[in-house]
Amino acid sequence: MPLLAITGATGFVGRAIVHQARADGYRVRAIVRNPPTMPLDAELFTGNVLDLKTLTNAFAGADAVIHLVGIIRESGDQTFDRIHRQATGNVIAAAQSAGVPRLIHMSALGVRPNARSQYHQTKWAAEEAVRQSGLAWTIFRPSLIYGPGNQSISVLEKIVRLAPVIPVLGDGRSKIQPVSVATVAKCFIAAVNQPSAVEKTYDLCGPVTFTWNELYDKLLAAQNRRKPKFHIPLSAARIMATLAEWFLPSPPFTRDQLLMIQEDNTGDSGPAVLDFNLQNEPFA
Ligand SMILES: NC(=O)c1ccc[n+]([C@@H]2O[C@H](COP(=O)([O-])OP(=O)(O)OC[C@H]3O[C@@H](n4cnc5c(N)ncnc54)[C@H](OP(=O)(O)O)[C@@H]3O)[C@@H](O)[C@H]2O)c1
Repeated sequence: MPLLAITGATGFVGRAIVHQARADGYRVRAIVRNPPTMPLDAELFTGNVLDLKTLTNAFAGADAVIHLVGIIRESGDQTFDRIHRQATGNVIAAAQSAGVPRLIHMSALGVRPNARSQYHQTKWAAEEAVRQSGLAWTIFRPSLIYGPGNQSISVLEKIVRLAPVIPVLGDGRSKIQPVSVATVAKCFIAAVNQPSAVEKTYDLCGPVTFTWNELYDKLLAAQNRRKPKFHIPLSAARIMATLAEWFLPSPPFTRDQLLMIQEDNTGDSGPAVLDFNLQNEPFA
């Protein structure tokens, strides 16, 4: 049975990918910093993407590496530069020295040269390193991912349920194209053994594009509620984010995220649908 070494396997997306890998008959080695709090159907290997030596041992004997580790906000020594750029350099070097030929890399929609946010900039640097690695690589760029265990949508769902008015950052008119975690997991695992996916970068997004305002409308409709929206001007949101970053251990949103939500986050899932024969689930 082929062996997949997966970084970030304990995370929201990682768990779905482990589940899909096991369903498709792969053995999985999860590289974890600490023992997971919930059971994970994988061999556990203690390692850190910031520590090259642990990774080289972790990848020994694997047929492919799936690299998922990423952060949406910085915390302590978990900076964007270290976790996206440096860690991906380590993953590439470890795969090369362990003789693993195949690398499937997690990026994000909106990643491009000269992007405004640090999240996108450092993910771009990681993508470039992957493209130049000499490995048989595939890169996926998902939009906002939803599904069981997801933090972002469940926080929004809670706000819609509990808040008397719906606070929307900015005018709420930027577009998003959320994709289900099951769809993302299917693509990652299908790509492992698909020669046509080698040296390709795929957008992964849902079949429907809508605005943040419409996302809130959908969540309200799902809960059968009607509530007014309150648009927080971006200048005020920036001050709130700055204070939250200074004083809260886990800020609800950051200045970097504010930069990203001002942009449309949409893409073309056509090539992924074609290459992986996907049935893309609608958000509703
Ligand atoms: N969620 C989305 O909507 C979305 C959209 C587009 C792209 N992405 C990308 O998808 C990837 C996974 O996202 P997610 O939502 O699943 O994130 P997540 O739930 O926060 O999971 C992150 C994973 O990375 C691991 N990790 C963090 N730092 C590490 C380190 N130094 N060494 C080893 N492992 C480390 C965490 O392990 P611990 O259990 O030890 O903390 C966890 O398993 C990220 O690259 C993210 O940028 C996500």
